[in-house]
Amino acid sequence: MKNIKQILFESEKILKDNHIEKPRLESQILLSHILKLEKYQLITNEEYNLSFKEEKYFFKLIKNKITGMPTAYLIQKKEFYSNDFFVNKNVLIPRPETEELVEWIINSVNHKIKYKLLDIGSGSGCIGITLGLYCNIEYLEFLDICKKALKICKLNADKLIPLDKGIKIKYNNKNILKYKINNPKFNIIVSNPPYVTEEEYTTLTRTVKKFEPKKALLIKKPDDFYTKFFNIVYLLLESKGLFFLETNPILIKNQIKILKKIGFYDIKIKKDFSNKDRFIMAMV
Ligand SMILES: C[S@@+](CC[C@H](N)C(=O)[O-])C[C@H]1O[C@@H](n2cnc3c(N)ncnc32)[C@H](O)[C@@H]1O
Repeated sequence: MKNIKQILFESEKILKDNHIEKPRLESQILLSHILKLEKYQLITNEEYNLSFKEEKYFFKLIKNKITGMPTAYLIQKKEFYSNDFFVNKNVLIPRPETEELVEWIINSVNHKIKYKLLDIGSGSGCIGITLGLYCNIEYLEFLDICKKALKICKLNADKLIPLDKGIKIKYNNKNILKYKINNPKFNIIVSNPPYVTEEEYTTLTRTVKKFEPKKALLIKKPDDFYTKFFNIVYLLLESKGLFFLETNPILIKNQIKILKKIGFYDIKIKKDFSNKDRFIMAMV
């Protein structure tokens, strides 16, 4: 039997020898997940002897970590805006930039108005769910082309959105380009769609390419896709409705042109924390 101190010493060395970044921290995250302890509690309980089952499970995760698997997929959760979201290989791991987008929306909307919100490309549901929690939403529609992603979104929404919020929720498994528009239905539409170009995709880290869903990241013909996409958004938004987009700094200029041509106005750009043009807000 080995205790926490011995196990961490061993796993740190294994990860280090396999060129995994931050081997100590990664070991601690995996072990605290298994033992259901906070990281600091690993130190205060360092003499605790792991059971055979705990040790076996821990070294299975360490083995997977060596393959480059992101820690969020190993522990099947990622914190986003202070809530834990279930994630697996079917959804993109929520990114810190997206928290900035959500923060911008929360600070921009009128909290006295009840909103009908559409989250396009909802993935884990991190955007729509967080807005459901912190804005005044009466109707919330999650849309994703991937059925498995939408299932995870529902799992997260069921766990995180209290029933007494009274939000009517719809899960829509659809390609946004095929959305049937009868009349404008929403007053906020938000999206973090795929925005990595083919050229950029080749430069992404091995970990991202190997483990995260390609269809969540890669966009093949950006101008064609976004022209169709923004036209649909325009028709789905009521007058004075708001469109929020997370995007790629190298695509943003063209996207603004497309939005203006369609008729969006009051278009604003916001930089991310690394000072890159990353987000758009536009009105109909
Ligand atoms: C970049 S991920 C964003 C996931 C999540 N909203 C987030 O911010 O972490 C893009 C999502 O869009 C979905 N998607 C890609 N193309 C789509 C399309 N044409 N129609 C609807 N959803 C699409 C993918 O399945 C993926 O879940």
